[in-house]
Amino acid sequence: MIRKLGRNDLCWCGSGKKYKQCHEEFDHRIELIRKQGHSVPDHSMIKTPEQIEKIRESAKVNIEVLDTVADKICIGMSTEDIDRIVYEVTTRHGAIPAPLNYEGFPKSVCTSINDAVCHGIPSEEEILQDGDIINVDASTILNGYFSDSSRMFLIGNVSEENKKLVEVVRESVYLGLEQVKPWGFLGDMGQAVNDHVKAHGYSVVREIGGHGVGIEFHEEPWVGYTTKRGTDMLLVPGMMFTIEPMVNMGRPEIFVDEENDWTVYTEDGSMSAQWEIQVLVTEDGHEIISY
Ligand code: MF3
Ligand code: CO
Repeated sequence: MIRKLGRNDLCWCGSGKKYKQCHEEFDHRIELIRKQGHSVPDHSMIKTPEQIEKIRESAKVNIEVLDTVADKICIGMSTEDIDRIVYEVTTRHGAIPAPLNYEGFPKSVCTSINDAVCHGIPSEEEILQDGDIINVDASTILNGYFSDSSRMFLIGNVSEENKKLVEVVRESVYLGLEQVKPWGFLGDMGQAVNDHVKAHGYSVVREIGGHGVGIEFHEEPWVGYTTKRGTDMLLVPGMMFTIEPMVNMGRPEIFVDEENDWTVYTEDGSMSAQWEIQVLVTEDGHEIISY
């Protein structure tokens, strides 16, 4: 039998406080918004302060991984070399690279060059060339908690056109971030991202998005960039998710490499860029957890 939580029962959040002194009003507020027809988060999407602290620790490793890649990446290096750096830094901290063996993924990090949109597999044969743009997407498990972020790197002399793509996508992520606040909507973020990339004539990939993260690698909600302001899921404090738009210089369509069943490319062969940050919704706005 499931009994409704009484006002004097302990709160579901694990604070040890009575429900009426903790999340009761919060739940009522969410319920009102749900009744207005909005999609709202359930309790499983709300992290406790203890969980958030553990996830921050994981993110510290993830950030150090990408900082180390940033220091070392250069022309002539193979993407396998990047994989080795990621594995070494991650395991040195007693952490596990989340991509390794994830649904059969064979390496510790995703490396996606030029028209590769995401999920590129590091290889000894793939050598960074002058003018390449590359996304390095790192994810870490520390003590069972997940962090996930990615950055773009410019290799040697990159054309102005390609530099612009990389810069605009980064801007779009931070414009989206500005919209992340409690009692706002995921669509506020999505529209800010999409408006910015569209204004530059680029297109955002529709099939692959961000995701809740922290307790699992990929949690609810799914985070797209084609929803409008005031729509999509309600945001409340304690939610954590990634903002990670993949943006193509040309058409938005993509395909998956049949050889490895992983790497995603732009259908028209145009360049693609992506930045990913992991974000927490706080009481008064947001906090970047990993970048
Ligand atoms: N890091 C990617 C993300 O942002 C997921 C990569 S899954 C992998 O969700 F298996 F390809 F690593
Ligand atoms: Co992600």
